[in-house]
Amino acid sequence: MRLKKMTMLMVVIIVVMFRHSNGLNMNYYIMTCPMVEFIIKNSVNSALRADPTLAAGLIRMHFHDCFIEGCDASVLLDSTKDNTAEKDSPANLSLRGYEIIDDAKQQLEMQCPGVVSCADIVAMAARDAVFFAGGPVYDIPKGRKDGTRSKIEDTRNLPPPILNSSELIKMFGQHGFTAQEMVALSGGHTLGVARCSSFKNRLKSFDSTHEVDPSIDNQFVKTLANTCNAGDNAEQPFDASRNMFDNAYYNALQRQAGVLSSDQTLMTDPKTRPIVNGYAMNQAMFFFDFQRAMIKMGLLDVKETGQVRQNCRKIN
Ligand SMILES: *[C@@H]1O[C@H](CO)[C@@H](O)[C@H](O)[C@H]1NC(C)=O
Ligand SMILES: *[C@@H]1O[C@H](CO)[C@@H](O)[C@H](O)[C@H]1NC(C)=O
Repeated sequence: MRLKKMTMLMVVIIVVMFRHSNGLNMNYYIMTCPMVEFIIKNSVNSALRADPTLAAGLIRMHFHDCFIEGCDASVLLDSTKDNTAEKDSPANLSLRGYEIIDDAKQQLEMQCPGVVSCADIVAMAARDAVFFAGGPVYDIPKGRKDGTRSKIEDTRNLPPPILNSSELIKMFGQHGFTAQEMVALSGGHTLGVARCSSFKNRLKSFDSTHEVDPSIDNQFVKTLANTCNAGDNAEQPFDASRNMFDNAYYNALQRQAGVLSSDQTLMTDPKTRPIVNGYAMNQAMFFFDFQRAMIKMGLLDVKETGQVRQNCRKIN
């Protein structure tokens, strides 16, 4: 009898240990869809082998999803006759990789219909993209449910590229992040590009309404201006190794070669500068903090109840 009670207690302890806050856990699909990790990794890897620039898109997609309405795949919903979705906001410009999510979802629906949420697919795909590009490997808790709201006006909650460090600290702080976690998450810019439209405010304008941002290196300002000569949609990589997940982004900030105001400000502000210098010097520390911050971001306002969409672009 005592033994039975002890065993029960042990089971309870183990279950509690494996449960994450928000009812998510690492082994959420172990009985219901054991192939889930494999299927998503395969979809991500085959798409990124064909186009490595999509890795940045998948990470941005997860960030965008979690910062608006929580990590509930609201970012994937298409607009309908009576609703303009987040997707159709100008903030969507760097979002790419929807086809990868659709591909993974389609295969999952064949293996285990109605089980794996689109929100979990987005979170796992971002994680797999980080690893594919040479970043840290990490496990994430799963069990998110999909949301039903996606409104264009909600995208004003995304940080615009002109924010300064104190504004970034404040905005990320509202989501429960420390300044250090904010700087680590900004390191996601180690992958991908920015468009001229998001940094041309830092360059001298033809009508002299604004002068050159003094925090840009003298040579680098020419690089940026040159990119902008090709128009507002011209792309500038955040660092020299745009498809490689490394700490080159922080090295660029040290050289005053950050692309957006919201990048370079992390080096200008004495509060965040030591963090930038730390990550520039020690890539392992950046990787460690980045994966922890990503796991934390993946838990933002997750929904424990709700639906699992059959098609990630439409509510059921
Ligand atoms: C982004 O929004 C614009 C309208 O602002 C829309 O035309 C475009 O198709 C959207 N892009 C994606 C990838 O959904
Ligand atoms: C950041 O911007 C805010 C509001 O625009 C301003 O009050 C603050 O002084 C700025 N901080 C720095 C460090 O420039």
